[in-house]
Amino acid sequence: MRRPFIAGNWKMNTTEDEAVVLARAVAAGTGGVLCDLALCVPFPHLGPVRSALAGSHVALGAQDVYWEPKGAYTGEVSTAMLASYCRYVIVGHSERRQLFGDTDAWVRRKLEAVLASPLDPIVCVGELLGERRSGETEAVLERQLAAAFTGLPLSARVTVAYEPVWAIGTGETATPAVAQEACAFIRASLRHLGGEAADSVRIQYGGSVTPENAPDLLACPDIDGALVGGASRKSDQFAAIVASARP
Ligand code: PGA
Repeated sequence: MRRPFIAGNWKMNTTEDEAVVLARAVAAGTGGVLCDLALCVPFPHLGPVRSALAGSHVALGAQDVYWEPKGAYTGEVSTAMLASYCRYVIVGHSERRQLFGDTDAWVRRKLEAVLASPLDPIVCVGELLGERRSGETEAVLERQLAAAFTGLPLSARVTVAYEPVWAIGTGETATPAVAQEACAFIRASLRHLGGEAADSVRIQYGGSVTPENAPDLLACPDIDGALVGGASRKSDQFAAIVASARP
């Protein structure tokens, strides 16, 4: 039985004060929920938000990580640095892949480093609009998953977020049928790579999730939660999405 897992990705948003207020509002608005919850916040806000969430049911996450343990890597952050603040870290978000040059090989190295640390990864995969239109969705997902996971242990520590790039921040959500089909394909690919342990991996859908579309998406058998961008920065919307997750 996979417990639903909803994560918010604030991206490069919020001032420190806004971050603390928002985190407190999320914790206050989601008491008694039946799923795991995390907020993935900007690096400088990990400390303040950790304090704001202390003792609450909401876990903390970061949005990226570098694979080397330390050294001359200006601007980068290691797993050990993050692990003293948070539990989760996003790896391979499409914005990292598209805007900052993260390759499949880099995602793999980041994932290896995360799995060797106390952090739990949220690994993002998903196709571009052109790739979907030309029927390459499954090939893209298979390539991204194989690059990330071949030879690595699958377990309940691992979350995969299916985020079709054409649905991120666009207001255009995948239909539940489209999202379920892709997530079932991801599950099958993970089984191929890691056997039965794939059944303990949680698969989130991400891409313009709202309180309106969340119930139908979260009811799909292979969708175990959501990675929420825009709507995670409005505490009432995020709480409404969270409320629609059922074990
Ligand atoms: P969105 O972002 O909900 O704003 O589409 C999702 C994501 O990038 O994780």
